[in-house]
Amino acid sequence: MKFLEYMEKIKLAKERISNYIHVTPIDYSTTFSRIINAKVYLKLENLQKTGSFKVRGAFNKLLSLNEEEKKRGVIAVSAGNHAQGVAYAASTLNIKSIIIMPETAPASKYLATKSYGAEVISYGKYLHESMRKAEEIIKETGMIFVHPYDDLDVIAGQGTIGIELYDLNPDIVVVPIGGGGLISGISIALKYRFPNIKIIGVQSSASPSMKVSKDLGRLVEIEPTYSIADGILVKSPSELTFNIINELVDDIVLIDDDEIAEAIGLLLERSKILTEGAGAASLAALISGKIKVNGIDKRVVSLLSGGNIDLSLLSVIAEKFLYKQKRVVKVRVIVPDKPGQLNKVLGYVVKIRGNIIDIVHDRHSSNVMPGYTKIYITFELQSSESLSLLMNNLISEGIDVKIVE
Ligand SMILES: Cc1ncc(COP(=O)(O)O)c(C=O)c1O
Repeated sequence: MKFLEYMEKIKLAKERISNYIHVTPIDYSTTFSRIINAKVYLKLENLQKTGSFKVRGAFNKLLSLNEEEKKRGVIAVSAGNHAQGVAYAASTLNIKSIIIMPETAPASKYLATKSYGAEVISYGKYLHESMRKAEEIIKETGMIFVHPYDDLDVIAGQGTIGIELYDLNPDIVVVPIGGGGLISGISIALKYRFPNIKIIGVQSSASPSMKVSKDLGRLVEIEPTYSIADGILVKSPSELTFNIINELVDDIVLIDDDEIAEAIGLLLERSKILTEGAGAASLAALISGKIKVNGIDKRVVSLLSGGNIDLSLLSVIAEKFLYKQKRVVKVRVIVPDKPGQLNKVLGYVVKIRGNIIDIVHDRHSSNVMPGYTKIYITFELQSSESLSLLMNNLISEGIDVKIVE
């Protein structure tokens, strides 16, 4: 790897793009420092223009084109943040852009890409199908292809995040990996300045291509399955990013959607920070304990890489978060089907200041005896201690009760 040459590219990128992007905040988090037992800093690329770090690479690539190339226009294939980054950078620089998105792209990302002024074409179920369409258009028009990670100018743009961390002098930096452009750029910038720093990558267990490649010491392709971290689902990392990661990244850990959802919930509730699945992956890995920090004085950076999440997905995640924390609970009771029975049960719920959200009666299931009714009651409560009190009260009344998980 041409380490010093790549570093020069990152320094140049920093100069080139500085007028077009935000230097994003680095927030010390008391809450996550306590949970993780270290000094935790959140690098807020979710607050970057277009809601993710991707504009850094996009601007650097577009600004590296010569006038003739700029006139030809640019084309990108992406389900999300790269699409928005390229669309925004192109319209800012008055360059024509076409973005091919798979039909499965999240609605919020599709609409945002259009609103940034790109011509958006929905094509194919998967990225490789969209890619074929892009190849056709490139053949016809000669437009310049902007790859999301297999491109040194894109990698150098993402690497400018590393330079923004120099003043903090971190011990560990945790970064999500899709195709690996983001962590490649950051690793070069940080290992250049701090050779002993630890860089840890995070992938979704639904898409472990880089982790498996690193473990095997050769590049492999793995078809992703579903994950809420749509930004880091990549089948084929590139030779370029693989080689950089193999040399500079200390470890890669895998996380599940449950862990990501919890990190999104905690970030929203405790820190008022909105992240998408891929954006919260690094924090999820830290909270899960899969990254060994070893020292309360260690300065750990969690890179929150994006905040573009569909509101419908966010509302499901928020609801599940409340269930998981037992702040919203559903109980099932079986009581005689007689007037006053529901009232009695609800009296106990009110006693613990439970706020009823939903009540459903079921008299007809085969496992409900004639003369009885099954009732599902969903309610909000202030603490899990009050739930134990409710359960004890109902059980001592002789009521058949169970928490529905
Ligand atoms: C929010 C977010 N985080 C992380 C990544 C991973 O970046 P890379 O593909 O360069 O590894 C992406 C890629 O699209 C992303 O959108």
